[in-house]
Amino acid sequence: QKHLLGIKDITKADMDLIFQTAKSFKEVINRPIKKVPSLRDITIANVFFENSTRTRLSFELAEKRLSADVINFSSSSSSVKKGETLLDTVNNILAMKVDMVVMRHSSPGAPHFLAKHIDANIVNAGDGTHEHPTQALLDTFSILEKYGTLDNLKVAIIGDILHSRVAISNIFALKKMGAQVMVCGPNTLLPKYIAELGVRVELDVKKALQWCDVANVLRIQLERQQIKYFPSLREYSLYYGINKRLLSEIDHQITIMHPGPINRGVELNSDVADSDHSIILEQVENGVAVRMAVLYLLAGKQG
Ligand code: CP
Repeated sequence: QKHLLGIKDITKADMDLIFQTAKSFKEVINRPIKKVPSLRDITIANVFFENSTRTRLSFELAEKRLSADVINFSSSSSSVKKGETLLDTVNNILAMKVDMVVMRHSSPGAPHFLAKHIDANIVNAGDGTHEHPTQALLDTFSILEKYGTLDNLKVAIIGDILHSRVAISNIFALKKMGAQVMVCGPNTLLPKYIAELGVRVELDVKKALQWCDVANVLRIQLERQQIKYFPSLREYSLYYGINKRLLSEIDHQITIMHPGPINRGVELNSDVADSDHSIILEQVENGVAVRMAVLYLLAGKQG
């Protein structure tokens, strides 16, 4: 079986193929007839053990645009609440003749565990603080769409890097595509191993903004913080919050990205999130085409 478990495991050639396929699907979904019959005989289960708006809805839409049969599972309204295990849950779903599983889980490695134990294609839709591969693919695709190339483009990932699977997957994807990558945030929100990933580290947000062409801004993930970290949300917004005034002190235009959900007024002010230089909603639009490409290629329907 083929899986997409993380960006660490895939090559630039894999990404190029995904982007080329996503580009064709983006043309399809902008036509009056948005559906193609590519996955007509495939059944896909979206199995979500954590909350989601964008990822779950865009996977579901991508599957429907490809004419797959779709079932949705949310742990909060399931028999997980009665004590059923992850493996039992997924095996019961597969007994209903499901071919692919798109899974989000709070435990790092949960989709890798499933990939070893079940006979279905697995797509990681976010596993704890580990990886969020389709988010990185749609982010990279959105930058490519705007700039044409990532070669030597300077991308700063700003925010709570320590708890962010988006940051880790983005670092892998951007570096494989030739970008220069910087991470920026308070020391307490940077993982100790960050330098091993081959990125620049900057503690001063103004210097990071002055350096970069693209700023991918992340939220503070309070739900993953076991202890109370410095800074508080108020302190974070004071020292790291990006607003129009701060951007006016930078000598060039920066493209603003955010994977969502935005904590408006904390990491990003509305005057930046909703500005002409923000491509946040383009990222969401591209999520459908990129996820269509991933599902299509994993199902082995190409050619
Ligand atoms: N970007 C992202 O993963 O958003 P959701 O948590 O809403 O899916």
